[in-house]
Amino acid sequence: MDKVILTPRLELILQQSIDIESDEVKDYHLLRCDPGATSWSFGGVAKDIQESQQVLIKNHFPIKDHDNDVRQYRASYNVYLRGDTTTKAPQGRDSSRFIGRVGALEGRVYGPPFSPDLVIPDDILANEKALKLEVGYSFLEKSWGHGYASEALKALMAAYQNANSLWNPPYEKVYFMGILGPANVRSSRVLEKVGFRLKGIHSWDGPKHFLGGAMQPNEVAVYSLDPSLGKREESQAGDERV
Ligand SMILES: CC(C)(COP(=O)(O)OP(=O)(O)OC[C@H]1O[C@@H](n2cnc3c(N)ncnc32)[C@H](O)[C@@H]1OP(=O)(O)O)[C@@H](O)C(=O)NCCC(=O)NCCS
Repeated sequence: MDKVILTPRLELILQQSIDIESDEVKDYHLLRCDPGATSWSFGGVAKDIQESQQVLIKNHFPIKDHDNDVRQYRASYNVYLRGDTTTKAPQGRDSSRFIGRVGALEGRVYGPPFSPDLVIPDDILANEKALKLEVGYSFLEKSWGHGYASEALKALMAAYQNANSLWNPPYEKVYFMGILGPANVRSSRVLEKVGFRLKGIHSWDGPKHFLGGAMQPNEVAVYSLDPSLGKREESQAGDERV
C-alpha cells in the first residue's frame, strides 16, 4: 500500500507502528479520546493510551498468523489536513493537523451470518477470486461536515484497488462493504456519496446497546460497493425476464 495518499485537502499516512511512543499511536489515541468520534464505538472513549494501542493492534493493524489470514490485507491510515495545498510534497505527521482515521479490514461478524441477499456469498467470492473488505472511518467531531470523511474514504479505496501487488495473487479483485448502525445518518451519507448502495438491514435478537446517543437495537445496515455486482444483478434480472 502507498505509505502516503494525497487528496486535494488531505494527507493520509499509513499506520505502521504500534510503538506507544510513536506519533501515529498518539494521534490515534487523540481520536479515541474524542466523544464524537467514538460515539458509535462499543468501547466509547479510551481509558488510556495503552487501551488505544491494544485496539489498534486488535482491530486495525495487519496481522499475518498464516498465509490464508485475511487480516494481512488490513490497511489503516491516519488522516491530516494538508498544511500547504500548493505543493505535492507530503508534509508528514503533525498532530495539530490530525483529524481522523480511515481504513479497510476483513469483513467482520455481526450476530448471525448475513443472508445471501445482503452480501456476495462465499462461493461466488471464491469463484471470482474476490477479496471482501469492510471499510471503517472515524473523525474528530471538530472536523465533521466538511466532506473530509468521504474524501478520505474515496482515496483509500482507489489506493487499495491500485495496490494490486498486495492482494494479487491470490485475489483478482476487491469487493468493499460498509456496515453501520441504521441510525448513523452521517455515516450512511459518507457511504452513499462515494458510491455504496444499501443492500438491506441485518437484525438479530439481544439486548439493545447505547450508541450514537440513544439505545440502539441489534441491527446493522449493510452497504456494498462492487462494480461487477451490479452487472451480475442486472444479468440475473434479465435472465428472469426471459
Ligand atoms: C461519520 C463521520 C465519519 C462523518 O464525517 P464527516 O467528515 O462529517 O463526513 P462528510 O462531511 O464527508 O459527510 C457527512 C454527511 O452527513 C451529513 N450530515 C451531517 N449531519 C447530519 C445529520 N444530523 N443528519 C443527516 N445528515 C447529516 C452531511 O451534510 C454530509 O452529507 P452531505 O455532504 O451530503 O451534505 C463522522 O461523523 C464520525 O466520525 N462519526 C463518528 C464515528 C462513526 O460513526 N464512524 C462510522 C462508523 S460506521
